[in-house]
Amino acid sequence: MSIGKSIFLTIRVKFFFFTHFLKSIKYYLNLRFLLFDLLFSLAYFFLNPYRISRKFLEKKFNKKIYDYGETPIIEMEKMIKFFKIPSNTTFLELGAGRGKMSFWLYFFFKCKVIAIEQIPIFVKIANFFIKLFRIKKIEFLCKDMFTFDLKDVDIIYLYGTTLPTDEIKTLINKFKKLSARVKIITISYTLNQYDKDFISEKSFDISFPWGKTKAYLNIKGEKKCF
Ligand SMILES: C[S@@+](CC[C@H](N)C(=O)[O-])C[C@H]1O[C@@H](n2cnc3c(N)ncnc32)[C@H](O)[C@@H]1O
Repeated sequence: MSIGKSIFLTIRVKFFFFTHFLKSIKYYLNLRFLLFDLLFSLAYFFLNPYRISRKFLEKKFNKKIYDYGETPIIEMEKMIKFFKIPSNTTFLELGAGRGKMSFWLYFFFKCKVIAIEQIPIFVKIANFFIKLFRIKKIEFLCKDMFTFDLKDVDIIYLYGTTLPTDEIKTLINKFKKLSARVKIITISYTLNQYDKDFISEKSFDISFPWGKTKAYLNIKGEKKCF
């Protein structure tokens, strides 16, 4: 990549984080969340999650893999509103990373969250904060999402834009065993692209530091033709 392009990308990403930070200031009026986020950010000031993920994947696959990313909480709020997700929901986050989104869902949305993550240090730190803030409604588990026994939850969130086709299909086979009322949010692809047993009920544009894409709300069922 040329130096010019790399400088342009760096400025774009920094601008994205800055504008998202300004938009998310409203969340810090919630003092409990403010305290949580100060301590959480302090912990991760010394532990870069992108580096942790790269090291974990390097050990697992013996090559450098840059696979980490987070859903901006402002974009998550848009998903909740646009997909009209009620607050008495059980939310399953597959591949929860360090869990910022799971905590946000708990603090602002009051729903029950089950977070599955493969990187042990993310899970340990998340569980430390669960204990510290005496949170009863988040279950943060160190599990492999491909072998984890999926329970009937209400909403599943999958930000797995780099998952290969065979892994998406493995997850789809697990989703198929769940009740038809379970809704699955995916980023940048619909489940219907891989399996016609699913339909995309709704979609809208969403922004990530790396660019714009779509968020989809998938359900089991066939599109009715009239
Ligand atoms: C792109 S990050 C998304 C983080 C978070 N969901 C968010 O939206 O902010 C994907 C996460 O999935 C995790 N992951 C990937 N494969 C996994 C697996 N088989 N089991 C559990 N977690 C996995 C990665 O370690 C990474 O933390």
